[in-house]
Amino acid sequence: MKPFNRPVSNLTRRRILKSALTAGTTFLIPTLLPSSIMCSSAPSNRIVLGFIGTGNQGVNNLKGFLQFSDVHVRAVCDVNRASYGYKTASQYLGREPAQQIVDEFYSKNHPNSSIRGCYACVDYRELLARPDIDAVVITVPDHWHAIMAIAAARAGKDIYCEKPLALTIDEGRRIVEAVRLFNVVLQTGSHERSNQQSRFACELVRNGRIGRLRRMIAIVGPNNKTAPAHDWTPQPVPDGFDYDRWLGPAPYVPYHPDRCLYNFRFNLDYSGGQTTNYGAHSIDLAQWGNDTERTGPVEVEDLGGEFPSDGLFTAPTRVHFRALYANGVELICKTGPEDVQIRFEGDRGWVQTGYRGFSCWPENLQTVIFGPNDIRLGSSVNHYRDFIGAVKSRGTPAAPVEIGHRSATVCHLGNIAMLLKRKLRWDPNHERFIDNDPANRMLSKPYRAPWHI
Ligand SMILES: NC(=O)c1ccc[n+]([C@@H]2O[C@H](COP(=O)([O-])OP(=O)(O)OC[C@H]3O[C@@H](n4cnc5c(N)ncnc54)[C@H](O)[C@@H]3O)[C@@H](O)[C@H]2O)c1
Repeated sequence: MKPFNRPVSNLTRRRILKSALTAGTTFLIPTLLPSSIMCSSAPSNRIVLGFIGTGNQGVNNLKGFLQFSDVHVRAVCDVNRASYGYKTASQYLGREPAQQIVDEFYSKNHPNSSIRGCYACVDYRELLARPDIDAVVITVPDHWHAIMAIAAARAGKDIYCEKPLALTIDEGRRIVEAVRLFNVVLQTGSHERSNQQSRFACELVRNGRIGRLRRMIAIVGPNNKTAPAHDWTPQPVPDGFDYDRWLGPAPYVPYHPDRCLYNFRFNLDYSGGQTTNYGAHSIDLAQWGNDTERTGPVEVEDLGGEFPSDGLFTAPTRVHFRALYANGVELICKTGPEDVQIRFEGDRGWVQTGYRGFSCWPENLQTVIFGPNDIRLGSSVNHYRDFIGAVKSRGTPAAPVEIGHRSATVCHLGNIAMLLKRKLRWDPNHERFIDNDPANRMLSKPYRAPWHI
């Protein structure tokens, strides 16, 4: 690991530049000054964002952040210039469509402002090198999260990083260390932390309203794309798509469209499959309700997870594992309908929440009003806004890095248990399996040169 050089923090950088300007100092000032100096309206208040990855979720994030008047999107980065081939047939995405969204937004909504001309690039390092960027939104496939998040922290940028935090458990810990060392804010994209319904369910559990918690059932959605035929053949790389940069640290393999845009989530070289994709929400809620969000289970066991026997998709086709916590609570994670994300079962009732709403027993739990002595789990109602608030206050966001890492860890543990088809003992303090070398070897993955963290 390269030694980290502590950067000048954003706020310090701003202060230095401001004092240099007022004192008339003649040292070399970068040509790209922070927006807090350049913009005339509410300058010191505005957070300048750069977006890395502008595909399916990247554009959702982009539109979500654009709505805030104290945010200025100045740069986008994507290795895909522009194409179809994302989640749905109608999505036409990549860096140029994203650049267009930003430019049209500002010319329509702020016609008289100085905000003009979104910068677009292929290499995320160009974006990180810009001193005018305060924070980055990382929405690339999971195999890139750690390299980019650590580089962003090293560059002194605050970070909104999509879930799952990392591709492996070791990478997640390295991100936590970098965020702490460089003292930047990181919000994980596990946005259920800003959903009032999800929070209420967890608060009921944490305050003993279903009695003693016994069991949690976390649901992950089924695979929603069909794998290409087993005898798939390599395809020519489309014009405008930098495939080598898309692969980055992952092993080199011939191009096929079903490997890349959106479908990366069905291949274990780039993702943990639906275990980590959905689990970063549903298992995150389990960790929250169980008050184990800064630790993890002590045992994990395969209950019949299934994987493709060969072909281009390698992620689980059926997720089913069990984890046991030191407090005796059991977590079952399985593939199921997306209606429910998490169900908590206690010895006096149950509560469940998900995309189809909230239900509980006894039914009057729905109307519980918490008192001053009850445990409350925050107040965020918009995950993007919460991040911007934390960037400004230098406070802790709703889904901070350690919590994002610990939630993703449980998902990775499940995948490892399902792949090895056995019961494993886990030490959450040292983040190592107990007496199991094959499992410990799966805590990290090698990187293809020249990529490293
Ligand atoms: N919070 C949520 O609910 C939510 C929902 C969907 C996806 N996600 C997460 O967002 C991430 C991306 O998922 P997606 O569905 O948007 O994938 P996607 O394939 O639609 O988009 C990813 C984009 O990143 C680009 N990219 C890949 N490597 C890059 C690199 N080195 N530099 C710059 N750009 C690069 C791709 O070209 C693509 O346009 C994943 O981690 C996923 O888990 C989160």
